[in-house]
Amino acid sequence: MSAARMLTGDRPTGRLHLGHYVGSIANRVQLHQRYESFFIIADLHMLTTKNTREDIEQVAGNAREMVTDILAAGVDPDRATFYLQSAIPEVGDLNTLLQNLITVPRLERVPSLKEMARDAGKEEMPYGLLGYPVLQAADILCVKGQVVPVGRDNAAHVEVTREIARRFNHLYGEVFPVPELIMSETPALVGTDGQGKMSKSKGNAIGLADDPVTVRRKVMGMYTDPNRVRADVPGTVGGNPVFAYHDVFNPDRAKVEELKARYRAGRVGDVEVKEELATALNRFLDPIRERRARFEADRGRVDELIVEGTERTRAEVHRTLVEVRRAMGLTSAYTQVRRRAERYRKAVATPA
Ligand code: TRP
Repeated sequence: MSAARMLTGDRPTGRLHLGHYVGSIANRVQLHQRYESFFIIADLHMLTTKNTREDIEQVAGNAREMVTDILAAGVDPDRATFYLQSAIPEVGDLNTLLQNLITVPRLERVPSLKEMARDAGKEEMPYGLLGYPVLQAADILCVKGQVVPVGRDNAAHVEVTREIARRFNHLYGEVFPVPELIMSETPALVGTDGQGKMSKSKGNAIGLADDPVTVRRKVMGMYTDPNRVRADVPGTVGGNPVFAYHDVFNPDRAKVEELKARYRAGRVGDVEVKEELATALNRFLDPIRERRARFEADRGRVDELIVEGTERTRAEVHRTLVEVRRAMGLTSAYTQVRRRAERYRKAVATPA
């Protein structure tokens, strides 16, 4: 039996950072060993909040950088199919058909959409943004994805996909596997400013592509316990982003526990704790940097991967759509009209 199929991906809005790594990329690096893997570059989803000419002009560059970051993080290009969503118009066709299988109030209850609208400065919900989870269902179902690993914020979208798949199968016959959600258990990584989750637009991110000097500089500028004015004042470890990063990225557990104990006792300066973190982060990023250097030396190969992946996926999606139209009876609707038109043509050509 062939391996189950996995689909996941991202909107091409820029380079990936440590928050992406913790929230989804790490999971993906593990899982793609086990599944037949599709990675979507979801530019149609990007359009739901960012659709100016300038935004769209960035897609090609961002797509390459994002794929490069994912490969650098450890995804094997021989085990993954990357594709550009907007290059496969059949995804939109499926979206149109799936829209009828879910209600507006159901979509209005998806919490992430309101957040996205707010973050994008929209006073009212754009129609396309309300339909974001339906488009995501089209992505997943058009390749018959069986497992979908995503971060917490996307869990509700996968639930919508499951409902749509069940509804479709119920109405028209078993076409779609009901995909399984694999949610990343790690809580969202806090930003370097300690103000909510890491996000490039908030300027509190450490990029997977940042060089060692930049990483050190960002770490030295990190928010810590604000009440700690001197190294001999006892500090708070809980909720302190510097220790949150130590917990995630420093494999030397004994060292981390020692630093925490000394911090709580007022026996270590912030500088030392941060120096240790910068070293740990750079060690973590070094192998990623090495792999990135290899892919960056061969940029054309990355573009070629995206093109090959897009063509492969398109063929796959086309097959699914043929099956969907058949199951729904749309194929036969047009066949009937065509047959009648043919009979009519013959009748007018040979008058009785
Ligand atoms: N919604 C995902 C994000 O937050 C991107 C995405 C689009 C996706 N289609 C998908 C993820 C299908 C998993 C499966 O960027």
